[in-house]
Amino acid sequence: MKKTLIIMAMEAEARPVIEKLGLKPVADQQNLNGGFPRYRGGFNDHAIMLSLNGKCPVHQVDRIGTEYAALNTQSAILAFQPSLIINAGTCGAFARDANIADIITSNQPVVYHDHRVALEGFDRFAEGHYPTAYHPEYFAGIPHKLGVVTTGNSLDMPEIDEQRIIANKGMAKEMECAAIASVAALYDIEFLPIKSVTDHIDVEVDNAEQFLQNLQQASQRLSEVLPAVLNNIQ
Ligand code: ADE
Repeated sequence: MKKTLIIMAMEAEARPVIEKLGLKPVADQQNLNGGFPRYRGGFNDHAIMLSLNGKCPVHQVDRIGTEYAALNTQSAILAFQPSLIINAGTCGAFARDANIADIITSNQPVVYHDHRVALEGFDRFAEGHYPTAYHPEYFAGIPHKLGVVTTGNSLDMPEIDEQRIIANKGMAKEMECAAIASVAALYDIEFLPIKSVTDHIDVEVDNAEQFLQNLQQASQRLSEVLPAVLNNIQ
């Protein structure tokens, strides 16, 4: 049986996935101040833990972004000892690359587009380049696109970020994947991103507005695709 850890940032993205996979909440972990809500269950040949970034106690919103994604991932690895980590979530994409709710995964390293350090050695480190483990058979019968997942801590896209995304041939712009992939690499665990598009990053309409409008549709798509991928992984 494969032990599969699913890391997700937002409760709204995860809710349909939790329901479709029939996962049950895990009791609060005493030693984790600030709490990462976790769900467990079995699906096909997988023991599954789904772990969320949790809510900010001050602002009462999901702790999106890289810091809590890394903390979440490391503590979930220690608690569950997975053999595969999937980062499921939403992303922005260029309109030419993908439609709303399309699925993007990757057979290329995950990079950062807003981590720039113009010092020898540090420059390459800052870009990330953490490995992904794409196997075509995992996506048999599932429409999907293959491209570079690119991570940063902002929803908007200033020109400097856009330049980096284009230079890196970024397809899925999101806010956690490189941090999760870096922790997976640290523990030598296979890592697979699965992203669904909520917004086009190159159109006039504000990303935040598009994101809110399409969040449900994209999350629903994730909840259809994740069980299908898990079914394909033996
Ligand atoms: N998640 C969904 N859409 C995004 C975007 N445009 N940028 C970063 N993260 C996202």
